[in-house]
Amino acid sequence: SKVIYISHEGARHELDVAEGVNLMQAAVSNGVYDIVGDCGGSASCATCHVYVDDAFLPRLPEANSRENEMLQCTAAELQANSRLSCQIVMADALDGLTVRMPDRQW
Ligand code: FES
Repeated sequence: SKVIYISHEGARHELDVAEGVNLMQAAVSNGVYDIVGDCGGSASCATCHVYVDDAFLPRLPEANSRENEMLQCTAAELQANSRLSCQIVMADALDGLTVRMPDRQW
């Protein structure tokens, strides 16, 4: 299914992401460098911070306590639609998911 990543500067990357793959993995392995993913996806670095398009927020499972804790450590401003992209696992129902990336991950 399709995921659209938009950088802080407005650059747009459209990726085909297989079901079960998380959005950090997909970004890192496809050259979307605004997502770092330093910890490899274990919700312990907050360098995979994204802002999820409001239309898709209700379709995502709620952040668990570990993700919520790590979201307090993002380099860029935390917003109501902030999530860790390593904790968003692709599913068919998320086709067209759009995320915006912050100006920095460090
Ligand atoms: Fe480290 Fe997501 S990759 S928290």
